[in-house]
Amino acid sequence: MSRVVVTGAIPSCGLDMLHAAGHSVADWTEPQPMPRAELLRMVNGADGLVTLLTERVDAELLDCAGPQLRVVSNVAVGYNNIDVAACVGRGVTATNTPGVLTEATADIAMALVLMATRRLAEGERLIRSGQPWRWGMFMMLGTSIQGQRLGIIGMGQIGVAVARRATAFGMTIAYTNRRDVDPALARELGAVRLPLDELLETSDVISLHCPYSTETHHLVSTAQFALMKRTAFLVNTARGPVVDESALVEALERGDLAGAGLDVFEHEPEVHPGLLGRDDVVLIPHLGSATVETRMAMATLAARNVVAVLEGQPALTPIT
Ligand code: DGY
Repeated sequence: MSRVVVTGAIPSCGLDMLHAAGHSVADWTEPQPMPRAELLRMVNGADGLVTLLTERVDAELLDCAGPQLRVVSNVAVGYNNIDVAACVGRGVTATNTPGVLTEATADIAMALVLMATRRLAEGERLIRSGQPWRWGMFMMLGTSIQGQRLGIIGMGQIGVAVARRATAFGMTIAYTNRRDVDPALARELGAVRLPLDELLETSDVISLHCPYSTETHHLVSTAQFALMKRTAFLVNTARGPVVDESALVEALERGDLAGAGLDVFEHEPEVHPGLLGRDDVVLIPHLGSATVETRMAMATLAARNVVAVLEGQPALTPIT
C-alpha cells in the first residue's frame, strides 16, 4: 500500500479513485491552503502527492517528503508552482491536467472579452447601486467586437478554443506562439501568426494563454502597453505575473489601452489597489476552470496519474 497525500480539498471522485486503487490517503479538507509548516510535516513519507496551484512544490518540500516519493500530480494545467527540475533531479514524475479544462477556461476568456468590451460588470454595479437609470441612446456604450482582431498570445489548446469562440463572434484571429499551428487549423480559423510587437500594435483585444515561466514574467509591461491601440482591451486567464500589474494600472491611467478583463493576478489573491476602483477593468477570482464538471475531471485525471505511476505505468499527462 502506498501513501498518497492530497494537499488541498479536491472533488471526492479523485479521492475515491485513490482509495479504490488501495492507497492510504491523507488529505487536507479545509477551504484555505494548508499552512506551509503543516504541509512539510504531512508530506513526510508520501509516495505520491496530489497538489493544488496554491502549494509551492520545491526542493524543500520534495526533501521533506523523502526519497520514496515517486509522483507529484498537480490538479491544474499550469504548473509554475512546481520546481520541475527538482522533481526530475529526484526521479519524481510531475504531472498536470491538460485538456480537461480547455473549454471551461476558454469560456471564461470569452466571457471576459464580452464583459470588458460591453461594460457588463459596470452595468451590473450600476443597477445594484440603486442609482436611478433609464435606457438612453448614449448610455453606457461599449465596443463591438465583430470584425475586430483578437490577438492570442500562446496558441495552445486553450488559445485555439478561444479562437474558435471568437470567430463565432465575428472576430479575426492573430496569434503569437513558439511554432506555427497546424496549417489546416490556421486556415479554418483564418489565423495569422505575428511577432509579439506586431500583434500588440494591431489587435483590438489581446488574450493571454501562455504558461508562466521566467521567460513570460511581465511579458506585458510598460513597453508592450505603449504599443497597444488606445482602444484595445487586455484579457488574462493565464497567470497573473505574465502582466506587470503596476504597469497596467499606469497604462490605464495614461489611456494606453481601453480596459482589461482579469481572472488572475500578479500577487494572487491580492489585487493591485489601483485596479479596484476602475470601471474599465473587470475582475473575477481565478474562475477559469471553476465548473463542477471540470473540477471533477481535473481531480479524476490527477488521481489517475498518481495511480498509474505508483503501479509502475507511465503517467497519462506528464509535464516532462
Ligand atoms: C490551471 O489549471 O492552471 C488553472 O489556472 C486552474 O484553474
